[in-house]
Amino acid sequence: MTLQSDIENLQTKTLADLAATTDLQKLEALRLETVGKKGALTEILKGMRELSDDDKKTVGALANAFRDAFASQFEAKKSELELESINAQLGKETLDVTLPGRRQKQGTRHVLTQTLEELEAIFLGMGYEIVEGDEVETDYYNFERVNLPKNHPARDMQDSFYITEETLLRTHTSGMQARVMEKHDFSQGDLRMISPGRVYRRDTDDATHSHQFHQLEGMVIGEHVTMGDLKGTLELVIRQMFGADREIRLRPSYFPFTEPSVEVDVSCFKCGGAGCNVCKHTGWIEILGAGMTHPNVIEMSGLDPNIYQGFAFGIGQERIAMLKYGITDIRGFYQGDVRFLEEFGN
Ligand code: PHE
Repeated sequence: MTLQSDIENLQTKTLADLAATTDLQKLEALRLETVGKKGALTEILKGMRELSDDDKKTVGALANAFRDAFASQFEAKKSELELESINAQLGKETLDVTLPGRRQKQGTRHVLTQTLEELEAIFLGMGYEIVEGDEVETDYYNFERVNLPKNHPARDMQDSFYITEETLLRTHTSGMQARVMEKHDFSQGDLRMISPGRVYRRDTDDATHSHQFHQLEGMVIGEHVTMGDLKGTLELVIRQMFGADREIRLRPSYFPFTEPSVEVDVSCFKCGGAGCNVCKHTGWIEILGAGMTHPNVIEMSGLDPNIYQGFAFGIGQERIAMLKYGITDIRGFYQGDVRFLEEFGN
């Protein structure tokens, strides 16, 4: 029977070819031309139609046996060649374990957060409590309770974003003065607090202005608090922030909620007072606003201004960070540019 011997011949030939194959591509080609749809076996089996039923069985069994034999030898050869190719590749590649590792990028605390944490640590060391306020504030606390009644001209400097007639995004953290004063239990001692947070102004953004920025409010109220305490406190804070040899200077200013009011300058930490581009050749850098709390503000919080007095100050967090780290554009704080964040990371 010729079909039978055809299969046997095919088997002898292809199994010998298979054993001799040394390359994966040729192995696959051999599979296709032998047992593939259009391969040699299919071609031989086309002759089955002319066979008797008995012969069909015999040939069919023989074909299946060949397929199985081919398949198992094919898989074995394939694994062998794959292993060889991996080993060959591994032999070529070298791994230098002495190369320096690739540094994992790490996040850092934002420079404003760092600045705030430094300030907070200084005030905590002096026994201040930290109080957080809301960014949405009432007109009453933001303005009226800090001696800025409706139609007060000084309101013009602090236009804001209004939610209703009586609710706004706070223009400063000073609203916290009244909120903390009216809650404080003075039988437990003086009030000493700082309140950091975001504030909003109607402003055109440029290198030194932002419609949204951060302040740190501070307030001390008690029975024997003087302007000397204010100056001593600020001197201490500024020396810790900017260096032990800094001097401060108080200039008269105006805020409706303090009387007298002062603008506080620090001697230039770059030139030491001789004059340079940082201090605009004056030797001094303006750093914050402060003053002795106005009797009206004390009285509105339910205290007798003849007994209680104290001081308040407002620090611009961005301003401190800009001076301390030499940052020239306020917008850098808010843009999230990784290069900026990395440069001023810790
Ligand atoms: N609230 C003032 C401002 O935003 C700063 C300030 C606070 C001044 C406390 C004096 C006392 O400009």
